[in-house]
Formats: sequence, structure tokens, C-alpha cells
Amino acid sequence: MTDLRQDTLDSFAEIFGRPADGLWSAPGRVNLIGEHTDYNEGFVFPFAINRRTIAALGLRDDRIVRVGSSFADELVEIDLSDLRPEALSGWSSYPLGLAWALGEFGADLDAVPGFDLLLDSNVPVGAGLSSSAAIESAVGFALNDVWQLGLDRRTLARAGQRAENVAIGAPTGIMDQSASLLGERDAAVFLDCRSLHAEIVPLGLEAAGLEIVIIDTRVSHAHATGGYAERRASCEAGARALGVESLRDVGVDDLDRAREILDEVTFRRVRHVVTENQRVLDTVRTLREQGPTAIGDLLDASHRSMRDDFEISVPELDLAVETAQANGAIGARMTGGGFGGSAIALVPTDALSRVYVALDGAFAEHGFGQPDLFTVTASEGAKREN
Ligand code: GLA
Repeated sequence: MTDLRQDTLDSFAEIFGRPADGLWSAPGRVNLIGEHTDYNEGFVFPFAINRRTIAALGLRDDRIVRVGSSFADELVEIDLSDLRPEALSGWSSYPLGLAWALGEFGADLDAVPGFDLLLDSNVPVGAGLSSSAAIESAVGFALNDVWQLGLDRRTLARAGQRAENVAIGAPTGIMDQSASLLGERDAAVFLDCRSLHAEIVPLGLEAAGLEIVIIDTRVSHAHATGGYAERRASCEAGARALGVESLRDVGVDDLDRAREILDEVTFRRVRHVVTENQRVLDTVRTLREQGPTAIGDLLDASHRSMRDDFEISVPELDLAVETAQANGAIGARMTGGGFGGSAIALVPTDALSRVYVALDGAFAEHGFGQPDLFTVTASEGAKREN
């Protein structure tokens, strides 16, 4: 990380021919539990991870914006007066889309100065660890500082979501950006996506001798297309048919009535969201009362619900979860939007190598590509580095 920071500053000076004004960073996230609940105004329980996007930025005295990154060779240039979602494409839609979205939350884009920006990141792309939210949060945090906007972290999260929804065209919720901005070391963010009230809940993994293992299946996914939007539409249709504003207003006790009203598929989509909200509440309570060793069954149940009711898992994710569970994990589930990406497993430190070996073996046996296996720790949210 220290190297990444220094490298980013060095590259900035080389590319733009001047030193950066400062360095900012923001993390990716893992969702411990609460999937596809955020856009239903429900509960989520993610944490920020120790993989970050670094943003080196220097203000200019004109209105030009130039953005470079370690993901692409090109330098993208745009005049702030031309900054509109329709004018953006490719990877630069994330940083530039965020700059545009700040205009929707109070920045006067006709008055602010341009900037040079260089991004680097060690959040794996397409792994379901929110590399995009890490970019949006790092850039939002940096521009909030240099443009002196005075926006709080929650508002920056909403700007990130707006960039994602409008500039990228992915109809995602508020979870990823909230985790990236509100996360704290060794703790998860219990977020009510209706009120945006957040509580920081200590995870206590180290004291319990537990690790969070990421099993990146390397099956890539995209939320701007296909399944994610379809699921969201089903949830909205379910809420309409049940006469509620959002599925947040449906409880586990209402499911019998919902079964009578809804078609079979919509009912299962609704049942996932409603039971998942309850599992988030149960996980937070169990964690507080009994510690992390007691939450495994809730993680397992969450995976089953996504596999059978919401139908967003893939064979590689199911294999990852089952193999981890059979080899010492306390609990496991796919994490993120689904259709690929990563699973997480809660694993006692002394069972770690057994789980790794079993996963490598099982993937090979099924003819799947090798998964990428690593542990993550809960880390702090967006910050200024220097
Ligand atoms: C993606 C989205 C989030 C959330 C999850 C599913 O990560 O960006 O807003 O909907 O999927 O829980």
C-alpha cells in the first residue's frame, strides 16, 4: 500500500509534469449479509476492506479535467462545461460521473476549477468487491476537499450512487458507497437504507480467531445489464402488488398473504428480500450478544435464499460455498450482486489452509478455472492520505 501511494504520486508527476496537491483513498467492500435489500429500503451489513483505490489530484487554473489511471493507457480530457452523463464512456465514467454527480448535490460546476487526476487501485475489478464504489468514494472525497464543498460522508455516498445510476447506467443501491465512506477498522456498517442511519458494529474476528476468506470465482458480472435490473424490477412489481411503498414494509409474518397474491416467481423474489432483512437484524443482534462464531448459520441461510429464491448464484459460487462449509468454515455465502464475483467464508484461522486446498481441488475437479483466494480485514473508510 505504501508503495502504491508513492508510485501514484511519482506517476502523477511524470504524467502531468507537476506534483499532486494531495492523495486520497477509499476502500472496496465486502457485504457480510443483506443482499439486494438496499434498493428495497431494507438493511445491509457490509464492511470496508483493506484493498483501496488511490487518487492523486491537483487543481488546475482552467476548466479542463484530465484523468489517467493504472487500468488504461489513455488520458481522458474533458472541459467541465461539457460534463454530462451522455458525454462519458468507458472506465473514466466512474471518476467523471462522480464529478458530474457532485453538481447534483450542491457543487457549482460552472464555477469550480478543473483538475488533473490519477487513479490506482488494488481492489480487484469484477470480483464483487466494489472496485467502482472505491473509485467513486476516493474521487468524491478528494473533490469535496479541493472544491471545498463541505459535503458529509452520507451525501458523498448518495453522489456515488447517482453517478452509478445515471452515468454508468447500473440501477444499484446505496450499500457499496456507504461501506466505502463510513467503514471503520475491525467493524461493519449496519445501515438502514431507508433512513440512511448507520451504526458501526465491532466484528471481533481477530479475538475469536476467525478470518474472512474471499473466494473470487473469476466469473465476471456486470450490473448495468441483465439479471440485476430484472431482480430489482421484480421487487418493485412485488411491492406494487402488495400495496406497499417498498419491500421494507413487508415482514416475515406477511409472507403467507403475499403467497396468495403474487405469482410464484415474484413471491420467491419477495421472500428472499423479506427474510434477508430479518437475517441482517438477527446477525447484528447475534454478533453483539454472542460474537462472530455464532453467525455462521445466518450466512449459510442467506446463501440458500439467494440460490433458491432470488436465483442469483452460479455453479462456481455454490461450489465455493459448499466446499468451504464442508472443510471447516463456520459459514459461507456469495456476496454482492451475484451472477459471478466472490463468495465469502468465515473460517477459523487454523482451518485456513485446509479450506484453501479443498477449494483449489474442488474447482479443478469440476473443470472450473482456479479461484483467487485471499483474506481481508475490516478497514477504515475514505480518507486523505497526505
Ligand atoms: C451490488 C449493488 C449494491 C447491492 C448489491 C446487492 O453490489 O451495487 O447496491 O444492491 O449488489 O446486495
